[in-house]
Amino acid sequence: MSAMHTTPTPHLPGSTATPRLALHGDLLDFTGTPDWGRTDDPAVRWRPGHWMLIDGGRIVAIQPEAPGPDWVRCNQAGRLILPGFIDTHVHSPQLDVIASYGTALLDWLQTHTFPAEQRHADPAIATAAATRFLDALFRHGTTAAMVFPTVHKVSADTLMAQGHARGMRLIAGKVLMDRHAPEGLRDDVTQAEADCRELIARWHGQDRLAYALTVRFAPTSTPEQLAMAARLCKEDPTLYMQTHVAENTDEIRWVAELFPEARSYLDVYDRAGLLHPRSVLAHGIWLDAADRALLAARGAHIAHCPTSNLFLGSGLMDWVSLRDAGARVSLASDVGGGTSLCMLRNLAAAYQIQALRGQRLTAWSALSACTHDAAQALHLQHEIGRLEPGCMADLTVWDWACDPVQTHRLSLAASLHDKIFAWMMLADEHHLRQTWVAGRCQYDVDAAADHALAAH
Ligand code: GUN
Ligand code: ZN
Repeated sequence: MSAMHTTPTPHLPGSTATPRLALHGDLLDFTGTPDWGRTDDPAVRWRPGHWMLIDGGRIVAIQPEAPGPDWVRCNQAGRLILPGFIDTHVHSPQLDVIASYGTALLDWLQTHTFPAEQRHADPAIATAAATRFLDALFRHGTTAAMVFPTVHKVSADTLMAQGHARGMRLIAGKVLMDRHAPEGLRDDVTQAEADCRELIARWHGQDRLAYALTVRFAPTSTPEQLAMAARLCKEDPTLYMQTHVAENTDEIRWVAELFPEARSYLDVYDRAGLLHPRSVLAHGIWLDAADRALLAARGAHIAHCPTSNLFLGSGLMDWVSLRDAGARVSLASDVGGGTSLCMLRNLAAAYQIQALRGQRLTAWSALSACTHDAAQALHLQHEIGRLEPGCMADLTVWDWACDPVQTHRLSLAASLHDKIFAWMMLADEHHLRQTWVAGRCQYDVDAAADHALAAH
């Protein structure tokens, strides 16, 4: 199943020129949110052997016919082209602790994560970490992300600056934590507000960047800090809010002790005024029916973090009940609690979590959750998540198979869903050929291999 290259990739990673480009391959995306459990869903848009025309960083047309001679061709025939993945919850400093042996959430934070994050006060460490992290996103097929850096202003600042230089859709904000965290990892309400205001002024709405008030989780913020974050959200309703909720049962008991007046963990955020249509809450495993109704009523949404929930032993998220309650769900890696930046690996884990709950996640619901549905939940459907004229040309090119077992299995696929599902379960970042962001090639496996050879 190797692809035929009739032309070399016209842009080397990082090149700035954006000629009129035509990309050829098998195009898959979604025109709506697929119905749960339905393998023949009309929201699936499958356009094999099509040309995508890209001009000025945006998709301008998609057609079966080859374009005229004034388009630079990049022929990826025999390969799968998807919208770039959207990771709605990931921690940039936690590449330092991914795959750390041990225990459940609270101990993992104390033992591994907080000590690692303390080091990011150093601008050199924070800058190198942001470079490593954003490069890694592109190498895993993720073109847009909602990111937690650390409590240090510099870690948010350098992340935003580097996301801006890459022309990517990035939503992030300095982490807020003014209690129950070690020395060097705590802010205070006054300084945190000043830092947030400065970062918002510098980055929010700059090209493809947006700022998120980033409350780590209820235990590490005083009620005064939660109120400050909510006040800033109210001042500018285009700001996002991101946090964690109901991930782990010990965490939930702790929140109940700290906020005895709240009906539930989620209610802590609601009482503070932090739930709104741009609120993204990671995990949401241990929610009840009232919480789910509240999420739907506020328009807030859950970022489901499958490899993290399995790795930390947090629990099995009830996707169907959220969906039935009218709450949106997107997909996230939650690295370093999660064990892979690759959304395909997270989708495979999501399937297994639902299987353990007696449910079946279709390839359509899975892939839509980290493309179309995520874009919609973030109110960015006009920009990302689909292969549609007008959207930014954020997309990925994938090999179908990397070994004889995969080739054999796909050759026996009985339907489109069977083929895409088997690919989703078996493929990972090693199947990625190219990542394009705003019409620029930001990762090309062939160029990366040449680079590695040259460096040797
Ligand atoms: N809850 C508070 N902080 C974190 C974090 O860094 N990772 C995860 N998985 N949960 C959290
Ligand atoms: Zn997290």
